[in-house]
Amino acid sequence: MRRPSPSPNRRTARQRLLREALRCGGVAPRLLYETPAQALKWLAVHRRWSPAFAARGRRFYRAALEEIARAFPGATRVVSLGCGNGAKDLLLLRALRRLEGRVEYVPCDAGAELVARAASLCRKEAEGGCRPMVADLARVRILARRLAALPPSDGQRIVLFLGMLPSLGPTDARRILQAILHPGDALVVSANLLPPGTCAARRVMAQYDNRETRAWLLELPRALGWPSHAKALRFRWGRDPEWRGLRRIEGRYRAEGAPRLLLFASRRHTPTRLRAFLRTLDVRTTGLRLTEGRDEGIAWGIAACGVHSSGSGASGRR
Ligand SMILES: C[S@@+](CC[C@H](N)C(=O)[O-])C[C@H]1O[C@@H](n2cnc3c(N)ncnc32)[C@H](O)[C@@H]1O
Repeated sequence: MRRPSPSPNRRTARQRLLREALRCGGVAPRLLYETPAQALKWLAVHRRWSPAFAARGRRFYRAALEEIARAFPGATRVVSLGCGNGAKDLLLLRALRRLEGRVEYVPCDAGAELVARAASLCRKEAEGGCRPMVADLARVRILARRLAALPPSDGQRIVLFLGMLPSLGPTDARRILQAILHPGDALVVSANLLPPGTCAARRVMAQYDNRETRAWLLELPRALGWPSHAKALRFRWGRDPEWRGLRRIEGRYRAEGAPRLLLFASRRHTPTRLRAFLRTLDVRTTGLRLTEGRDEGIAWGIAACGVHSSGSGASGRR
């Protein structure tokens, strides 16, 4: 697996984001995934705590992504924004290939280690080729230009935004998708949900307030030479300042000799909010599936005209 080493530009961007974090007290999500050590620690969290990784979650995603493949059998390009290790993308690519699709896979993520892993995992299912992109979604216009410069693809594009809504505020998420989506694209989003029931908040908290998640999140302060003992990070429930109805888990960092930071936030959506979010993008939801425990949801639809006026139609220049 070839891993691109961080370019001087990327190192400068990281330093800029760190300075910004110190100024505003909040950390951009990409700063938590970018280094190889962070990527490996996040993968350990994912394996141990993500409902999507557990057998039931995997069955759910396999069935949902197979349904999505059947809904868009003519797709020729899958663009995964924030691809992580590509494990969910693989399920979709496999299903499309079984339907005789010849699909090109474009995994995009800020973490070079993660992009390399996604490409290596999915390459053999992408008969149309694999074009990994290390990219910052906060600078989405640059990514949009890189995507537009790809050779034309004559079928439909599927844009994946899996697991991204929890870490992004609604405005940032909308801005990213508005810059990327073209009329006729299929959009697939997934999110962690807050299940109904009085014990749900406690169960969700247990997925964060644990050893593996602390080791992952404290990797950033550790690399900066700040204290990284377990007590420096406390988890609690809060509300999204932008969308007050949205509850979120917050990981607050506080240690002697270091700045106070909101190191991490993970929003909990509801099925209604997922649909509402797609509507704000002018994407008509055509499918919505929830896990049995209602702790994860995946929704998909087609971008209507007006999302992005590139002048190309549903296929055209991609
Ligand atoms: C919760 S993970 C989701 C991974 C995968 N899509 C999944 O569903 O398993 C969030 C991903 O978003 C990426 N990410 C966060 N901020 C980003 C940014 N500004 N630009 C690009 N990728 C970013 C992280 O590196 C990470 O891989």
